[in-house]
Amino acid sequence: MLDQVIKVARDCERCVVLTGAGISAESGVPTFRGKEGLWGKFRPEELATMEAFMANPQIVWEWYNWRRELISEVKPNPGHYAIVEMENIFDHFTLITQNVDDLHRIAGSKNIIELHGNINKNKCLKCSEPFPDDQIISPDVIPACPKCGGQIRPDVVWFGEMLNADTIQKAFDESSKADLFLSIGTSAIVQPAASLPVEAKRSQATLIEINVNNTSLTSIVDFFIAEPSGEFLPKLVEGLKKII
Ligand code: OAD
Ligand code: ZN
Repeated sequence: MLDQVIKVARDCERCVVLTGAGISAESGVPTFRGKEGLWGKFRPEELATMEAFMANPQIVWEWYNWRRELISEVKPNPGHYAIVEMENIFDHFTLITQNVDDLHRIAGSKNIIELHGNINKNKCLKCSEPFPDDQIISPDVIPACPKCGGQIRPDVVWFGEMLNADTIQKAFDESSKADLFLSIGTSAIVQPAASLPVEAKRSQATLIEINVNNTSLTSIVDFFIAEPSGEFLPKLVEGLKKII
């Protein structure tokens, strides 16, 4: 299977990679769904919605700080680093992630389309002004916006919220132009991200899925790789580098 994938990928010019929580699983970041997933332990509607923040901002703030702490202790894994190398292998390369953990940037990826925001960033609930990164975020006190006094919230997309229009547009544009699309470590359930691989396939891209489990996408992909991404991606990159 690896050889077949390398053979197909080496003839491609426009590669789009979509990642989900599974790419960071081998770094020790919990995924959302599945046995050990966050949504098995916590109720998203109590923690990741505007209603939850309005009803109990402190609990939401503390939950995000707990996740920030957890993420600050982990490192990118070989899957993240392989994706950094892919930038130099293809003529045109786009990385789209649903993850908020910043591990792609820390690994060295450059142009990252962050569909669901970034957990290390904050913004004002009222005026959306970014809250300066260098300001100390206390786990206990929700800061106030220096501009309007509004409450500061994590700059992530909550359930029921729209994605940034330009961001999702760019993701769809790139997906429809791709000749190779890799869906990595995502359950491909949450929209609109889950439509990106479908869009790529509709536009004739070769669709490859790398996931330790089958997903709703699996039945339409050209290649399904049932391996942890941190093990498969370095092999793929090594194979592609040999050819170039
Ligand atoms: P999920 O938790 O839904 O899915 C993670 C996927 O990764 C599953 O399909 C696993 O089988 C797979 N997986 C686990 N370990 C893996 C490994 N080592 N290698 C490859 N695959 C592996 O996470 P997402 O699909 O990212 O949204 O979830 C999408 C969105 O739902 C998230 O961005 C988040 C969540 O609610 C928001 O926060 C807005
Ligand atoms: Zn404000």
